[in-house]
Amino acid sequence: MSDIENILHEDRSFPPSAEFASQARIGDIETYRRMYAESIADPEAFFGRVARELPWIEPFTEVLDWSNAPFARWFGGGTLNASAVCLDQHVEAGRGERVAIRWEGEPGDTREFTYAELHAEVQRFANVLLDRGVKKGDRVAIYMPMVPELAMACLACARIGAIHSVVFGGFSANALRERIEDGGCTAVITADGGWRRGKVLPLKPAVDEAVEGIDAVHTVLVVRRTENDVAWNPRDVWYHEAVKSAAAVCAPEPMDSEDTLFILYTSGSTGRPKGIQHTTAGYLLHTYLTTKYVFDVRDDDVFWCTADVGWITGHSYIVYGPLANGCTQVMYEGAPNAPHTGRFWELVQKYGVTIFYTAPTAIRTFMRWGDDVPAGYDLSSLRLLGTVGEPINPEAWMWYREHIGGDRCPIVDTWWQTETGGHMLTPLPGCIPTKPGSCTVPFFGVDAAIVDENGVELPANHGGLLVIRKPWPSMLRGLWGDPERYRETYWSKFGSMYFAGDGARRDVDGYFWIMGRVDDVLNVSGHRLSTMEVESALVAHPAVVEAAVVARPDEVTGEAVVAFVTPVANIEVGDELAQVLREYVAKEIGAIAKPADIRFTEALPKTRSGKIMRRLLRDVAAGRESTGDTSTIEDLSVLAKLRGEN
Ligand code: WT7
Repeated sequence: MSDIENILHEDRSFPPSAEFASQARIGDIETYRRMYAESIADPEAFFGRVARELPWIEPFTEVLDWSNAPFARWFGGGTLNASAVCLDQHVEAGRGERVAIRWEGEPGDTREFTYAELHAEVQRFANVLLDRGVKKGDRVAIYMPMVPELAMACLACARIGAIHSVVFGGFSANALRERIEDGGCTAVITADGGWRRGKVLPLKPAVDEAVEGIDAVHTVLVVRRTENDVAWNPRDVWYHEAVKSAAAVCAPEPMDSEDTLFILYTSGSTGRPKGIQHTTAGYLLHTYLTTKYVFDVRDDDVFWCTADVGWITGHSYIVYGPLANGCTQVMYEGAPNAPHTGRFWELVQKYGVTIFYTAPTAIRTFMRWGDDVPAGYDLSSLRLLGTVGEPINPEAWMWYREHIGGDRCPIVDTWWQTETGGHMLTPLPGCIPTKPGSCTVPFFGVDAAIVDENGVELPANHGGLLVIRKPWPSMLRGLWGDPERYRETYWSKFGSMYFAGDGARRDVDGYFWIMGRVDDVLNVSGHRLSTMEVESALVAHPAVVEAAVVARPDEVTGEAVVAFVTPVANIEVGDELAQVLREYVAKEIGAIAKPADIRFTEALPKTRSGKIMRRLLRDVAAGRESTGDTSTIEDLSVLAKLRGEN
């Protein structure tokens, strides 16, 4: 059976255990229903009330201003500071001795920071930035390995009101440069390198290449991690030297609720990445609330989100959500199989992790490595599991439940996006029965629906498009520097509803089942890529005339990149050229974008009007018989050749 059929026939349901429910913040479904109903009927009353849980500098005077839709303003008149929400409030409340971060490097070295220590470090870091002339509103690019300084760098920017733009350390110099330029960044924070699968992943050379000739960048601040040699330029500053003279006191800058906290680039359906813009109060409120209710964190929890801070998951559920809640968390630098495939479970056992949050692609990889790997560790500390990033197939969900969760831990399958800032569709673990493969029900304030192409809501069990009908606090406020593209991408299709880009259906119990992207966005191991981005990288190579990129289903990565390439005349095609092109894409974008499969073809199937028929290519890539209409294809022999029928 295919996954889709599997999911259509999925009727298993797992209510939380009585024990879990009795200790949960929300342990009965009536409470969820009542709170959800209020959040939808009167969002201003609901969010106005819960927002008072944040430590405001100046209280807000208005909850929501939607008069300039789709540009929302939440908590107008209020001021606060994200780093103070994450640190100062806990220290001031006498919780400074709680451990904030237990960090472990890939080689096994460890560091630990209490809230008081992190508070001091962040203020020092903020003073280093101020000394270098970074000011409120300036954009700072962060390109780092998963070391504590990465979280500190984000919080230090937030403390002085600078806008951080984190670029995942796996992205290439070109991708970094594009993001630095688009955001108008004036400083870059990086490291000499990080550890990845037993080797140093150097970062500094990519930064050197990325900032070359960009005079606006006045500072490159370099954290020392791996002690490998790095080239040195006039604007480079070692962090460990600069921080020596930095004071441990730096007052938090009062920020307007709607001041931008950060930009994070993600892929859309065109070649150019989008700078998703999140503001201070609404984003913090939503990440705080979802960490509190979806992960149901308590004082004795040890939370571990395995994502990289380079993605939104790390922003929301390593940096801001857990720290705003005063959680103790584990942060790990390296790969799950370094030096052995039991590494994650070794960490769970060692640190007594109670809440574990990872991606379906990781779970499917663990399945491959074998049941005996987790069975070799004591995982009894775990009480709650989470997943995010892509649809999870019921088989992987069941494996996760049994082999990691010991059949006792609820699983929260959280659907959300870079754009939404935090969880949108998700179970609350103490009261929502879960079904394998479903992200279940909407979080507070989330008015989700399934509609057809005309925006008409569909009845139960009809596949359609996922939309959100009301603004929510952590919604993106725009695309950096391009308000029109924001309107066009998310709001032009249905006017007053946010179009998520996902296909989904809702079952008779009102549960949501995500079917995947309906646009030209690929999801490889939970990472978003645009087909156009990969195509532009390929056609930039002198051996390529034309390229079309599609996804094919993959058992481990969810989707894999398949590229159909028309080469220039008289060039030898084969494995060697395929390898050259793969490396070229890695250099242009990053290793995550490398095509799994490159197929050379004399021509691409096109409609009579010249459009590449991606649907056909998807079928070919997946080895499926095409069921779609081929009557508009320009030259049927192209299709025959692609299928190898000749
Ligand atoms: C896209 C967003 C949310 C942080 C990581 C990815 C897919 C995400 C789920 C889920 C099914 C999911 C969607 C979405 N997605 N979570 N639980 N079930 N699909 O963030 O890179 O912005 O990608 O990831 O297709 O649109 P992102």
